[in-house]
Amino acid sequence: MIPWTTTSTSPPTSASAAEVVGSARSFDALPLAQDRPEEAEGRLEGLAVPGETILSLYVHVPFCETKCAYCDFASWAGRGGEEEAWLGRIERELALRGQQADKPLYSVFLGGGTPSALSEKGLERLCRAIGEHFLFQPQMEWSMEANPVSLTPAKLGIAKDHGVNRISIGVQSFEPQLLRRMGRAHDADQAREALDLVAGSGLRYSADQIFALPGQTLSQFLSSLRTLLAWNPSHVSFYGLTMEPGTEFWKQHEAGQLSEADEDLYADMYAQGVECLADAGICRYEVSNFAKLGDECRHNEAYWDTRSSWLAAGNAAHGYTPHLRWRNPRGLTAWSNWADEHFPMKGLIAEELDVEQRWTEEWFLGLRQSKGVDLARMSVEFPSKVPPKPAIARRIASGHVEVAGNQLRLTGDGWLLLDAIAVELSG
Ligand SMILES: C[S@@+](CC[C@H](N)C(=O)[O-])C[C@H]1O[C@@H](n2cnc3c(N)ncnc32)[C@H](O)[C@@H]1O
Ligand code: SF4
Repeated sequence: MIPWTTTSTSPPTSASAAEVVGSARSFDALPLAQDRPEEAEGRLEGLAVPGETILSLYVHVPFCETKCAYCDFASWAGRGGEEEAWLGRIERELALRGQQADKPLYSVFLGGGTPSALSEKGLERLCRAIGEHFLFQPQMEWSMEANPVSLTPAKLGIAKDHGVNRISIGVQSFEPQLLRRMGRAHDADQAREALDLVAGSGLRYSADQIFALPGQTLSQFLSSLRTLLAWNPSHVSFYGLTMEPGTEFWKQHEAGQLSEADEDLYADMYAQGVECLADAGICRYEVSNFAKLGDECRHNEAYWDTRSSWLAAGNAAHGYTPHLRWRNPRGLTAWSNWADEHFPMKGLIAEELDVEQRWTEEWFLGLRQSKGVDLARMSVEFPSKVPPKPAIARRIASGHVEVAGNQLRLTGDGWLLLDAIAVELSG
């Protein structure tokens, strides 16, 4: 049971990298209500987390060294002066979230934004607050996102001392001109140094790359991936560039100064990227995430399992428990004001998912994972719904999906049609 008190409360979790897939974002697949419906309000006041669910924590750090040209995450450059005030507020929110946790955490994810952009003192305070307010399961996974420009041996040491055991580092590319075009704060050498640092730390680590960047060639993308493999990572994420309204890339696109990658090039980059990693034993377990067996990100997997729950803290953070989700105010100033008002319930955007929404969500979340949708579980959880047999048969015939045992999963070019197939099969 997670008691949602009426004094100071509110929820959290958002995904950053975890939200982005090739062409879609998990929470965008289903619209969030703009107002809090009555039924959601009731659930939030006395939120009960089913006993058997696992519980995770997401903390959103809104600071970045530069604002990258493609990124519309709730993060800002040039606001480091607000760190001290942010720390005070996030400590208060973590204290509340800790009261709401009814069990030791299965996973923690420090995302953003850029957690490594915090000062050493700031990172120390953040990690300490998490340790003070939560219990951890013995095998708990604690990830921290980092930018090569700000991950230092000292910060890595602080994180490690407090229990961080997995680093996700934003490399994006090793091509100097692409890094500049993206507005990244680091160059290729700094990315190499950061990889040396994490690879020598004994921690699990992952690296992000982006493909379908403006002007990027297939060989540039594959060469960046191969360069990364020299560090023998056990986890890699690569994301097809999505053009997000309001970003610098979006503005350039609107002004006709940037064109999106051609569909065939996009498809080739994705397929050959998958193959390149598979040759190194790093296999796709989700549309944009690849790991050696056993090194999958457990926190990500919890996001994609509708039976898990997660708490979260910070601006734009999303929380979830079956079948209710909610979101903290998005802007740093809006969240700060809300924190200063003691996190009133009315500050949340919340939504109780009905059967139709849950059905759709199961298809989207199941299909994006290599294991696919568990049809047997679907028939138990949705006795009133029937999978669309003719549509499934058509997609099997076209080689886009396959059924193995109880699992219906994407195959071949089906991965490039994830959104369309999910809409078709859930409709
Ligand atoms: C929070 S950042 C990772 C940590 C750190 N902030 C950094 O960028 O180095 C999350 C990741 O999402 C990916 N990403 C963000 N916006 C994207 C977009 N519009 N298209 C594709 N990938 C994107 C990038 O690969 C980025 O590394
Ligand atoms: S550093 Fe990461 S979170 Fe910050 S703007 Fe760039 S991609 Fe987005």
